[in-house]
Order: sequence, then C-alpha cells, then structure tokens
Amino acid sequence: MPRKPLIAGNWKMNKTTVQAAILAQDISNAFDERLDVLDVVLCPPFIDLKTVSTVLSYDKSPMQLGAQDVFWEESGAYTGEISPAMLAEVGCGFCIIGHSERREQFGETDEGVSRKARALVTRGIAPIICVGESEDVREQGDAVALAQVAAQLERSVEGLALGDIMKCAVAYEPIWAIGTGRTATPEVAQEMCANLRARLLVLYGSAAAEKVRILYGGSMKPENASFFAPLPDIDGGLIGGASLEARPFIDLAKAFL
Ligand code: 13P
Repeated sequence: MPRKPLIAGNWKMNKTTVQAAILAQDISNAFDERLDVLDVVLCPPFIDLKTVSTVLSYDKSPMQLGAQDVFWEESGAYTGEISPAMLAEVGCGFCIIGHSERREQFGETDEGVSRKARALVTRGIAPIICVGESEDVREQGDAVALAQVAAQLERSVEGLALGDIMKCAVAYEPIWAIGTGRTATPEVAQEMCANLRARLLVLYGSAAAEKVRILYGGSMKPENASFFAPLPDIDGGLIGGASLEARPFIDLAKAFL
C-alpha cells in the first residue's frame, strides 16, 4: 500500500493573526482538487491556530491543521505551555515536535520529544517527529550522520508502542539545510530517510516501517521539490520559507502528486 504524501507548512514565528488569516485564505483559494490525494497541513503559531482553523472549516477545506510544539502534561501550573487537549479542541490533527530550532534554542531533549509524542497520540494528534544532523556531524561523513540521526530517532520514540508509532510521521531535517538555501542532495536525503525507515523496521517491524511517513525538510522549494518527490523513502516535505506564501507552497505540494 503506497504511503499518502504529506506536505506540512511550518510557519515558525511568522504571521500575526491578521496575516495568518490572509495566508490561510490565500492557500485555501489556491488549493486545487487534485491536491486531495495528499495530506496538506498548515502549522501556524499557537496564537493563530483558531483563526486558521476557522478559515479552513468555513471553506470546507481538506487541508488540516497542525501545531509547532506542545507540552506533555494535560493541564496545570506550566506557565506558557499548551497541552495536547487544547490542540485537539482547536482542531489540530498534527503537531511538529523536536524541531532543531527547539532543540538548539530552547533545550528540547530526545526524552522530552518522546514524552510529547506519547501525550499527543493519546489525544489522537499525529506527531511529526523531527531529527537531523548538524553541519559538524555532516562533515564527519555519511556513516557518522547515518548513525547519529538514527540514534536520535530511536531515543525520540522511546516508550512509544507499536500502535503509537503507526500514528507518527518523521521529518528528516539536516540542520545545515534549514533556511540556508542549501538542500541535501537527493542521494543524501534518500539514504538518510531509508536509514530511518530501516531503524523503524528494527524497532517496530515491517508494518510500522512501511506505514510511517518520512518527510524531508530543509530549503525545499517549488524548484527542487520534484527531485525529492520520486524518492522511495521520502513521503513528503516539512516546509519552512516556501510555506509563507500561497503560490510557492501549493506549487511545491503539486510536485508530490
Ligand atoms: P526551510 O524550508 O525554510 O529551510 O525550513 C525547513 C524547516 O525547518 C521546516 O520545519
């Protein structure tokens, strides 16, 4: 059974509420029916989730809503945090966790990522678990990067049962490719994603390895998406810069048709 491609737009810390409403509406207007065979997910900042959710439901859009992070507790004295229940209520079907920007700038650990993943699946939200190597690691060569990123994934899914991992997606995002205009070559991206799938096979068996979608992220644009789309172990993209305007985002998604 082929995997349905997944294209998620990570808006990061961009767009005020008014701008988010406009962008969501522009993307919804530009969406064409052919894209119904993909999962297209918009991940605005927390404060814009409700607004984007309203635009999508008013338009009866098949696009889905995702968050950029979550905290693993259900409620309580955790100033500034957002729970899985809150995300579920606003209509999130997906949530990015373990993005390298959160790992590097906010001290997110693999252990925290695995706790977030477990909390999300209990609320029916699909985690998009991000992994990827730094430039330093990449310079140490392929073998080092392959081993490190697979180990990072293994630690990030610690404690997830088979039924849980089946609900997750994984995003391979080499840190040196994020926002730099330098993508991984298709060969490197395929090799890294195939290796992640191989690790899932060892950890969870063939049903999970075949089902879990693995995305590439890092300077993917409409101009280069067609190099990644046909690769056997790449099932979509996690898109930063190119998700901040409707036309490039939709054109990029179409490469995965
Ligand atoms: P860019 O597409 O801007 O490189 O960002 C990728 C990313 O970090 C998506 O999560």
